[in-house]
Amino acid sequence: MEIKFKDDFLWGSATSGPQSEGAFAKPNLSIMDYWYKKTPNDFHNQIGPDITSDLFHNYEKDIEIMNSLKLNSFRTSIQWTRLIENFQDCRVNKEAVEFYRNYFFKLKLKNIKLIVNLFHFDMPIELQNLGGFENKKVVSMYAEYARTCFELFGDLVDDWATFNEPIVPIEGGYLYEWYYPKIVDFKRGIQAAYGTILAHAKAVNIFHSMFANDPNKKITIILNLTPAYPKDQSKDNLQAARIRDLLFNKSFLETTINGVFPKELIELFKKEDLLPNYTKLELLEIKNSYIDYLGVNYYQPSRVQARTKPWSGKIMPEKWFENFVWNKRRINPHRGWEIHPETIYKIAMEIKNNYKNINWFVAENGMGVENEIKFKNSQGFIDDQYRIDFIKEHLYWLNKAILEGSNCFGYHVWTFIDCWSWANAYKNRYGLIELDLQTQKRTIKKSGYWFKEIIENKNIIE
Ligand code: NOJ
Repeated sequence: MEIKFKDDFLWGSATSGPQSEGAFAKPNLSIMDYWYKKTPNDFHNQIGPDITSDLFHNYEKDIEIMNSLKLNSFRTSIQWTRLIENFQDCRVNKEAVEFYRNYFFKLKLKNIKLIVNLFHFDMPIELQNLGGFENKKVVSMYAEYARTCFELFGDLVDDWATFNEPIVPIEGGYLYEWYYPKIVDFKRGIQAAYGTILAHAKAVNIFHSMFANDPNKKITIILNLTPAYPKDQSKDNLQAARIRDLLFNKSFLETTINGVFPKELIELFKKEDLLPNYTKLELLEIKNSYIDYLGVNYYQPSRVQARTKPWSGKIMPEKWFENFVWNKRRINPHRGWEIHPETIYKIAMEIKNNYKNINWFVAENGMGVENEIKFKNSQGFIDDQYRIDFIKEHLYWLNKAILEGSNCFGYHVWTFIDCWSWANAYKNRYGLIELDLQTQKRTIKKSGYWFKEIIENKNIIE
């Protein structure tokens, strides 16, 4: 088997501010910082976001490692709660400006293409207390925060992203109680999702007007796509899959690429009295917004069927479908998630055929492993052949899609150095580099060396 990629293909990794920086010197708390202070027991082994891999103090060293592995691109996020001291007048924290400028400058010096995301699940608690994106005032504050970032760091950042996985704070915070504020209210979740789409549109429109004369300045949004496979082709199961796709994939895909809400979704919400508060002007702002390319996070698909048991009346989307365990599924034994690399091909073809064949890249893909330390070999590094195989299989299907005309221009592994993962903390390790939490020592895993070889050779030959 030979898989060959273009010379200018982006090879890199992704992380986020809250998962890698540590909460040092932050003037404000995010919902995650606050939640951890309030109930540390909600976090695996009671580990919170306060230290993580302490990139705040280690970024120079980490960028050296990134450079040694030949990664040519990197994505991280700015923490709203680090940069902004006062949300009311968008006053910035000087130490944060200095930190981000030094950090981004160092990446630039190494010629590593930098994509900076503005929001990675980290709503400031002060603004969540005002209703988060349910509140239009917070939507406008986000837009001002975005403008401030473009002004402060526009010379150092190559590309920007407005949001990472914007559906996740809705699922986690308003439906399934994974994350603070742990509200179970679909209507409020829809209002917050609408506010997020509007916030995205405002930021994108500000960006395009600020950089109208610079074709090299680009902005994207990073969506986690989880295509829904129905249990079988029966009418009810097909309908269940369609609704799941509408709610969790098409809602953001259609609005951010085509500028409109899917008609079927509007009908569904109307019928259930779930439409959010909106104005015609806002719809116009959304319609006029456009992204320059799309970022896609892909881990696993969803498998759904029509309801077989009566609905509990609690979690609204479950009225329309339920998940089922596919009997042929291959599973990652170290994490429990399904492994289905073919779906990356399906996503690529869907983008090609239904979303203007827009340019896109894999913004996250990777394999989480619990208790990974057991794979450490006698030479002292983690022998993660399973991760190499996982990435390789995804690259195979990605390459097939590219050969068939999909405009995918890059692949980012989640993640660079093992990172803190919200309530799961360090339970599942994803990095190309192992982090020793006690000593902060970084050790490159086998997958890190393997990834370097791919970048150097631009192909995989077996
Ligand atoms: C997606 C999210 O963007 C990231 O924050 C998370 O840690 C990874 N998936 C792994 O679950």
